[in-house]
Amino acid sequence: MTKTASKPGRKAQGPVKGPARVLAVSSGKGGVGKSNLTLALAYALTSLKRKVLIWDADLGLANTDVLLGIHAKHTIHDWLKGEKALKDIIVEAPGGVSILPAASGILELSEISQDEKSRLLSDFEGWTLDLDFLLIDTAAGIGQNVIFFNLIAPEHLVVITNEPTSITDAYALIKALSVQYDQKAFYVLPNMVRDLQDAKGVFRLISDVAGNYLPDVSLDYLGYVPKDEAVPDAVRRQVPFYTGFPQSEAARKVTEVARALAAKEPPAGGSGGLSLFLGRLGLSPMAVN
Ligand SMILES: Nc1ncnc2c1ncn2[C@@H]1O[C@H](COP(=O)(O)OP(=O)(O)OP(=O)(O)O)[C@@H](O)[C@H]1O
Ligand SMILES: [Mg+2]
Repeated sequence: MTKTASKPGRKAQGPVKGPARVLAVSSGKGGVGKSNLTLALAYALTSLKRKVLIWDADLGLANTDVLLGIHAKHTIHDWLKGEKALKDIIVEAPGGVSILPAASGILELSEISQDEKSRLLSDFEGWTLDLDFLLIDTAAGIGQNVIFFNLIAPEHLVVITNEPTSITDAYALIKALSVQYDQKAFYVLPNMVRDLQDAKGVFRLISDVAGNYLPDVSLDYLGYVPKDEAVPDAVRRQVPFYTGFPQSEAARKVTEVARALAAKEPPAGGSGGLSLFLGRLGLSPMAVN
């Protein structure tokens, strides 16, 4: 299917081929910058004329709305319970990015009934058709929710830092997804590094380990984001650093990452259609039940 600029609500200037690209952003280790980078990446892709939805999938400690200083009236729970339509839950953040907020402190996927799973899948089909990118900001760790969202998403972005614990935990996530769930390709995004050399060094560490022990896995370096005071500054002001500090080095590097990501060829069969979700869910009972 080819999407065109004439579609209502679409911002792309030229035709954008294929359905939405769905990416899960994860890390293994917590606090490495997933939520901030997902938000920044969403704004950077929006400025490249892509229509982007962030699914705040940190079901335990949702915080995309906090980073944006917005209040989500309804949450994914209202949708799953059938009390609200997906369109009533999605929040339009300033600047053209849409957010599907999670609720904090509750919900394990094991608690979602089959009916609710079906609703999740069929509603999502409609939404992804109108999007270029769906970015899923997942929780820390490699628990069932993180695995589930990585199975929904055909593309996986792993954020790492130059701390050994980050490398170890990211490797554990990649290993679980590849060995147990047959996911073989991952983008790697070093964050909070000093410079290009530091970023390349940390990428080399993880790719050497993966090369030795997971030879069928491919890791794709996507660029890097430096450690930058603009990020915590923006967090304190509850604005995305990308829009609050557009001249910062972190924002500039995120623009490069967004360009690199937009230029990537999504994996074959990696569509956002219902068949994809159903196909992926064929694997999910292992993770969900
Ligand atoms: N490039 C950066 N430079 C400086 N600080 C950063 C950078 N990226 C993230 N941070 C800081 O790191 C902290 C964690 O960021 P964030 O909440 O985005 O991480 P996370 O991976 O989503 O965490 P969690 O695993 O808890 O969901 C924040 O205080 C943020 O300000
Ligand atoms: Mg987070």
